Amino acid sequence: MEVLIFDNETGASQYAASVFSKLIRERPGAVLGLATGSTPCLLYAELCRQHAEEGLDFSGTTSFNLDEYVGLEDKNPASYRYFMQQVLFDHVNARAERIHLPNGMSNDIPATCEDYEKRISAAGGIDLQVLGLGGDGHIGFNEPSSSLASRTRIKTLTRETRQDNARFFNTIEEVPRHCITMGIGTIMEARQIVLLAFGERKAKAVRQVVEGPITAMVPATILQMHPSVVVLLDEAAATSLDQRDYYKEVAVNKPDWQRI
Ligand code: F6R
Repeated sequence: MEVLIFDNETGASQYAASVFSKLIRERPGAVLGLATGSTPCLLYAELCRQHAEEGLDFSGTTSFNLDEYVGLEDKNPASYRYFMQQVLFDHVNARAERIHLPNGMSNDIPATCEDYEKRISAAGGIDLQVLGLGGDGHIGFNEPSSSLASRTRIKTLTRETRQDNARFFNTIEEVPRHCITMGIGTIMEARQIVLLAFGERKAKAVRQVVEGPITAMVPATILQMHPSVVVLLDEAAATSLDQRDYYKEVAVNKPDWQRI
């Protein structure tokens, strides 16, 4: 696990964007794993800018989003489909038929989940997955106690997650109780993972993820077992890390051939 600490969210997001754009330029047919929420917004804004100003070409890419609420239509402004259209898909040239989000309106959720897994496999698996981090250590919507080997399935959101996400709804009661999420086993099969976490609110979870023991009670801790994860933090999210100075020393002394 590589841990990079930036002065602010902008620096970390620019770095994440450079990981994505390098991949897309080197491999125009790349399969991207995407996340929603506040955390990746600056990353997506930078990718949109690179598309508009530098010709970053999404036409060959395929994407799979981590999750979607159950029971929200695409046109509902709180749905993740709507969110992705606003922050990324409406501004780049990704082809509609290659954009995938779980179908939260399905009336056969197990079949939808199985189909999602099949589509990921048929695309050749995910090359690069971006993740945000829940305050409770969730990735995707794999809440504490999720199986560390889980596949795409329905999950019940915790009260904490519903409270965190209530800002996108009028009241907490409107926040759906269920979602479809890629499983932890699914996420772990991505060839490369970028985890972003910003702000003091995430500091405790960040410490558990980077320095704590692996446990299903903090699902993101399983990332310690992944061979290619970079954790991009702002200073506030890094405040509780015991080895903070060491991570900075590693970054400063990184050999040129390892830099992007
Ligand atoms: C969203 C997702 C979640 C969020 C997490 C952090 O697709 O998978 O795991 O990344 O809840 O949310 P924000 O970024 O809003 O703090």
